[in-house]
Amino acid sequence: MAESIIINKSNSTEEIYKALLPQINSLLNPNEPLISNLSNVTAALKDAFDKISWVGFYFLKEATLFLGPFQGKVACTSIQFGKGVCGIAAEKKETIIVEDVEKFPGHIACDANSKSEIVAPLTENQKVFGVLDIDSYSLAAFNSVDKYYIETLCKTLVKKLDFKLVKQILS
Ligand code: SME
Repeated sequence: MAESIIINKSNSTEEIYKALLPQINSLLNPNEPLISNLSNVTAALKDAFDKISWVGFYFLKEATLFLGPFQGKVACTSIQFGKGVCGIAAEKKETIIVEDVEKFPGHIACDANSKSEIVAPLTENQKVFGVLDIDSYSLAAFNSVDKYYIETLCKTLVKKLDFKLVKQILS
């Protein structure tokens, strides 16, 4: 079946999220493999926003975040818990918005052209098991609107998909 995301890119960020999230929701199929669902989530986000240069998941195994499904250039395959924007978001269990990566001590530059990013933790029963990382080539590309909708998306993913299966991706 052909799948596509229909977005009017001249709309505001909020309007794009409002159109996008229900479409992602209808793409999610808990009866299909986790990796297939998450791959489409990253593609849908990248497709919807020109400001996104890279979007992907990292999943925690012991004290390391490992690269999961993503869209964009090749990226770091592992990040230590508590290191980089991803590791700190995982450690703090909170979304981090970085307006200028050069001003964020410890930022890990997978792509030297990346200028700003937002990282949201994925948690279940208050336990963090991964993050969703979104990067941009523009400064200050993400704000509280992105935070609200990306956190909403993460909650939907945790509710709808069985992340216990993430162990299979990490094996
Ligand atoms: N910038 C991230 C590393 C992951 S890449 O951006 C894909 C960080 O500092 O954790």
